[in-house]
Amino acid sequence: MSDTTNESQTFSAESYFATQPQPPSLAADIQGVHEFIQRQRQANRCVVLVTSGGTTVPLELNVVRFLDNFSAGTRGATSAEYFLKAGYAVIFMHRQFSLQPFSRHYSHTTNPFLNFLEVDASLPSSSTIDTAYPYSYDPAPTAPTPQVTVTLAERARLLSVLRAYKAVHEQETLHMLSFVTVNEYLWLLRAVSREMSVLGRKAMYYLAAAVSDFFLPQQRLSEHKIQSGKGNLSIEMDQVPKILKPLVSEWNPEGFIVSFKLETDETLLVPKAQQALERYGHQVVIGNDLHHRKYRVVLISPAAQEDAANQPNGVLASQPKYDKFWIEIDPNQPPSHPKEIEEDIINELIKRHKAWIESA
Ligand code: PMT
Repeated sequence: MSDTTNESQTFSAESYFATQPQPPSLAADIQGVHEFIQRQRQANRCVVLVTSGGTTVPLELNVVRFLDNFSAGTRGATSAEYFLKAGYAVIFMHRQFSLQPFSRHYSHTTNPFLNFLEVDASLPSSSTIDTAYPYSYDPAPTAPTPQVTVTLAERARLLSVLRAYKAVHEQETLHMLSFVTVNEYLWLLRAVSREMSVLGRKAMYYLAAAVSDFFLPQQRLSEHKIQSGKGNLSIEMDQVPKILKPLVSEWNPEGFIVSFKLETDETLLVPKAQQALERYGHQVVIGNDLHHRKYRVVLISPAAQEDAANQPNGVLASQPKYDKFWIEIDPNQPPSHPKEIEEDIINELIKRHKAWIESA
């Protein structure tokens, strides 16, 4: 596949950043993050980095083909709204074109906003539309202005989304960053984390993005589109270094870090989440199973250690190393005002984050 080296290797976070190219927009992106964090510090706000959506792995330098990770960005975009509602400032680092806070209510094909708009039927439909430029509005002074309104049934919901959106814009508490490839994600995550370290315990990380586990290093990418017609294609990919490790131990050891574990076999959720905590030593792993993720999740965290002096005979029975906390909602939600599981997840995390700050 390549003209340089064909050998796969094991990347540590350090060797990854030493060999893989920095995205050209990184410096400008980080300048924006830096200024955002300064403003939030002055306002004494907690800041959460929400990562959302899936990363891609290009198979060619002039990319035609790539591998993608499953994630629409629902978890991240919904959670960001609840953090904002609770007074947090949010850095929303998302896959380009995945769901975003507020616009998620009316974007993609699930709920297109045009379905909720109506044109006043009492006016002639073509009277004020310039037919040569059908999307431009003819401001002829004599022509009556057609009124576009929101359907009655949607008005209350739109009003509440719009008010929350406008308030966030006014307070400047939402900062957007986007990535496409796993390489862009990793460089951004490292740089944003370093910027956030000035916040100490007031920084939270909510890592809901679905990050590729394997990638092709730049040095082994084919420059041009891989040609078909030569039979099967075999690609040997390298493992993406586990980025939670340096995040917890180097980039921001004071931050409150929440990672996710996605499984398709629900029985693996708890052991895998415990394994992640054991390995990285952070604060919370949220286990979610693919098919029930909108109604049931489990929060795994290190168990609070009891004090032996408070035990009968001063003896500690063997204590579990991890706490399990299930959050569940009824899967049959009314379509008019559905409850979202993220509301309960964020409330619980904010409670824990507060305790984490106070225990400093
Ligand atoms: O967006 P939706 O459609 O609503 O879906 C949401 C979701 C199911 C994608 C989300 O809730 C979720 O589970 N996200 C994490 C999925 C994932 O990639 O899991 P993982 O096992 O690959 O990674 C576990 C954790 O390790 C992640 O928090 C990730 O940030 C971290 N990681 C992953 C890869 C890597 N190289 N380094 C990492 O640190």
